[in-house]
Amino acid sequence: MIAKPLSLITLVVLYSLMVIGGYVSAAGLGLVCPDWPLCPGGLIPSEEYFVEWIHRVIAMIAGILIIATMVACWRSRDEVGRAVITSTAASAFVITQIGLGALVIDLRLQAVLVTIHFGIGIVLLVSVLLTVLFVFGLRIVRA
Ligand code: HEM
Repeated sequence: MIAKPLSLITLVVLYSLMVIGGYVSAAGLGLVCPDWPLCPGGLIPSEEYFVEWIHRVIAMIAGILIIATMVACWRSRDEVGRAVITSTAASAFVITQIGLGALVIDLRLQAVLVTIHFGIGIVLLVSVLLTVLFVFGLRIVRA
């Protein structure tokens, strides 16, 4: 079933994206690339924009993977009912998160928005992690 490898790859890519996001924030690089969606210099900008640019590129890849995982869960013939719910939630979160990323830049790293960006990132990671567990057939057993 394609949903298994897809959801696992998605989890790894998303985790990496969040680590890079943490670096962007901690290194004070949040406004190095002041435009949206592209950095100055076009599709592949010069190396001074690299870290922030890579955060955006991986965000786009993560978005595609999350939506592909949702579609795979919808179409799966296996019993992945709960994964359908968590993967659909993840897709809604990732679209919100990418939009919010643009707003974070537009409003020059407004503190509340950066905090919400961080908070949605965690909820998104949890929904993708749950999707992986459900797709792999996690059983919650009562003691
Ligand atoms: C799936 C999509 C995304 C996820 C999961 C994500 C996650 C994160 C995380 C976890 C951080 C670190 C937050 C912190 O330490 O306070 C961060 C920082 C940041 N993200 Fe994203 N991000 C995503 C998409 C985007 C997009 C599309 C942009 C658009 C430009 C963006 C712009 C930023 C910026 C500017 C920062 C640094 C904020 C600062 O300087 O404090 N993010 N991101």
